[in-house]
Amino acid sequence: MRIDVVTIFPEYLNPLDVSLVGKARARGQLGVHVHDLRNWTHDRHHTVDDTPYGGGPGMVMKTEPWGEALDEVVADGFESGAHGPVLVVPTPSGRPFTQELAVELSARPWLIFAPARYEGIDRRVTDEYATRTPVYEVSIGDYVLAGGEAAVLVITEAVARLLPGVLGNAESHRDDSFAPGAMADLLEGPVYTKPPEWRGRGIPEVLLSGHHGKIARWRRDEALHRTSLHRPDLIERADPAAFDKKDRETLSILGWAPGADGRFGRTAYTVEQ
Ligand code: ADE
Repeated sequence: MRIDVVTIFPEYLNPLDVSLVGKARARGQLGVHVHDLRNWTHDRHHTVDDTPYGGGPGMVMKTEPWGEALDEVVADGFESGAHGPVLVVPTPSGRPFTQELAVELSARPWLIFAPARYEGIDRRVTDEYATRTPVYEVSIGDYVLAGGEAAVLVITEAVARLLPGVLGNAESHRDDSFAPGAMADLLEGPVYTKPPEWRGRGIPEVLLSGHHGKIARWRRDEALHRTSLHRPDLIERADPAAFDKKDRETLSILGWAPGADGRFGRTAYTVEQ
């Protein structure tokens, strides 16, 4: 996969040199190219923003530097053999970034990120590129960052770990929270490693039992427990067919009951865990 990032803070992307993404780059599984947007300005002050039409606070990123930058990045990429670019624009008003979207993006050969600062990029830039390539406007959460660069790091890491051969153990994203088809959209429960006792705290006996069935059941119950606590919306939304008999018993203990349509809802007297 090829990734291009156009930004006014290239050094913000330095973390792409380390850890999983850095190793994927070193192994040639991922090519990352970071570009300084100001290279495509032509005035003494390297201006990339201007006041918004219609008034209001803040500044808007200008069409010209973005247009020239993206044209050149796309042309250079094609020249070096890349194909199938998609433009990814991180913005708090984008569609939510989910594991499903990470999987979708990981299947694309070439991502071009356009992270904005200030109040965003002049709309005509995305309108223009949407006529040539798919454009994904993506939000990483319901909060406002100072710019999209942190979102680029988040999206890149989530996508890179899905690329073939990037994770050491191919099994290790099978049980990820939110992995499609794995734990039916449940959060993962707690994990433990050696030593077996630390500051007087042991580990759940079942994990030492060697009994795979019991361990799987324990993990599932912990996942239900944690999801009930932190993300009850996932249980409300879940297809009831995803819950077996033992799941239903656990959910009942946690204060859930199936409604008329079979979906689970909180019972009247739920004790907070
Ligand atoms: N830029 C500013 N806030 C953002 C967010 N929540 N997601 C993606 N890009 C952003």
